[in-house]
Amino acid sequence: MSAPVVRLDPPHACDVLVVGSGVAGMQAALALDGKRVTLVTKSRLGEGGSTSWAQGGVAVALSGTDSPSEHAADTLAVAGGIADQDAVRQLTLRGPERVLELIERGAAFDQNPAGELHLGREAAHSQRRILHAGGDATGAEISRTLAAAVDAADWIRVEEEVFAQDLVVEDGRVIGLLGLDRHGAWRCWAAPAVVLATGGIGQVYRYTTNPQEVTGDGLAMAARAGAVLADLEMVQFHPTALAADTDPLPLLTEALRGEGAILVDEEGQRFMLEEHPLAELAPRDIVARAIWRRRGNGGRVFLDGRSSIGERLPRRFPTVFQRCAEVGIDPRVDPMPVTPAVHYHMGGIAVDLEGRSSLAGLWACGETSSTGVHGANRLASNSLLEGLVYGTEAAQSVNDSLLAAPDSPAVWRRARQIAGRYRRCRPEVVRSVHQRVRELTWDAVGLARREEDLVAANRELTELHEQLGDAPWETGNLLLVARLVAEAARRRRESRGAHYREDYPELDPEQASRSFWTAAELLDGEETVASGSQVSDLSS
Ligand code: FAD
Ligand code: SIN
Repeated sequence: MSAPVVRLDPPHACDVLVVGSGVAGMQAALALDGKRVTLVTKSRLGEGGSTSWAQGGVAVALSGTDSPSEHAADTLAVAGGIADQDAVRQLTLRGPERVLELIERGAAFDQNPAGELHLGREAAHSQRRILHAGGDATGAEISRTLAAAVDAADWIRVEEEVFAQDLVVEDGRVIGLLGLDRHGAWRCWAAPAVVLATGGIGQVYRYTTNPQEVTGDGLAMAARAGAVLADLEMVQFHPTALAADTDPLPLLTEALRGEGAILVDEEGQRFMLEEHPLAELAPRDIVARAIWRRRGNGGRVFLDGRSSIGERLPRRFPTVFQRCAEVGIDPRVDPMPVTPAVHYHMGGIAVDLEGRSSLAGLWACGETSSTGVHGANRLASNSLLEGLVYGTEAAQSVNDSLLAAPDSPAVWRRARQIAGRYRRCRPEVVRSVHQRVRELTWDAVGLARREEDLVAANRELTELHEQLGDAPWETGNLLLVARLVAEAARRRRESRGAHYREDYPELDPEQASRSFWTAAELLDGEETVASGSQVSDLSS
């Protein structure tokens, strides 16, 4: 096939480019007051992404009986021994200030009859500290609040329905972004600082609670640009997705268990009591594996809130009630069938406590980043808080950096080189690769992993890469992320937190550390890409 002619207008210039409008991206853009910020996002502002779907709430030490240090202790206790303690301290200490700021912006969290914030309980929290809104529609309220603030912020220019395809890199420095508009036309931006806030990787797996848009784009872009990535093998499965015939699977919030709902098998027997002293409120990885084992043996598992929540369910958990109603279940009278499903990525673009990546000019925050704050297993409801805290930290770091504007013609030339490397692939090939990647990861890189499955999966993923080639849009990203996660999972030969190896079921003290890789290291030097750091210097 001959190289396509790349049509590309000269770049739009700004001081900071933020990619993504979930909690992390919007929080970062708002904290960049004083800069000319362009925020590009794949669908509409505040929509798409996981934030607006978040249910249970935001964990934060605000009550008189709580403290950031207790919140930090709970976070560390479930993290499999590899969380970054400084990152946890920063999250829990700065969390209260960020949440109060959000309330000042207008976020309406649920209150008790005395007019105080109502605090919910979730698994492995030693006390009630979960702020929630609309019962179990916390993310929608946070998105609404931040999107209204972004709309009102005159320093932020929002560009909707823009797909960020690649970072533009020159001499190891990120100088801009290459994207596609909704008609598939190439666009580019020049900026001395880019903040990636593109969310997680849920859609890389066949069964997930994450929206369609969550395809690991930011992680893939950073991987192609040569950034260091961390803890890629640490993929969290939520124990209780509704076992329905939908894609994605509806989430049944952990707050249901916080309010007393129990897990039972087909005979109605409660089984978590024999698994862990905290029973249904055990850490997420333990509950997820307990359910997985029972389902793997052909059994079904149910979440039963009939006696503990009963008639209160539609009011306290309207989202769950609605999702159940859509598949013909009334949780006041029926137990809800559940399955674990991919929910959150602890791994991501390796960043320091200020959100700085290994590449000059590139910051990341929220789920696409990995500060190490969650270690090998995230504590429930710490993710929205992470977006608020680390979105702000990244913005402050950008603000504190003296950044020279990149040369626009250089950005333009690089962007055209990168775009020229991509080839559109036949839609039926894209569809079949997309589907197969998701199946493979679910089967081989799931809740229980084995060397031979990981090796075989990687072999097939490499073949799929050969079929697809360097295709733009999501499928290439899904495939790259799947390969990276599978290989990182193969290389950690122990079981820790969310990463469980059937062939290495024990924790190995020798491996009690985070993992850091570049894509080239994981894929044996294979040139993954069309990234600016790796393209040869074609003349423009
Ligand atoms: P997201 O909110 O996923 O936003 C990513 C943004 O990037 C979106 O705007 C997306 O459109 C954009 N984007 C992605 N790719 C591109 C691209 N290529 N180009 C341009 N834009 C792009 N956590 C909690 O703490 N509490 C909860 O109660 C909770 N409940 C959850 C319930 C569900 C159903 C799910 C799925 C997750 C839940 N989580 C919860 C996890 C939490 O919601 C996410 O981890 C968090 O919202 C991630 O925020 P983010 O800003 O990093 O990414
Ligand atoms: C939930 O509501 O169970 C999700 C909470 C989270 O992912 O932190």
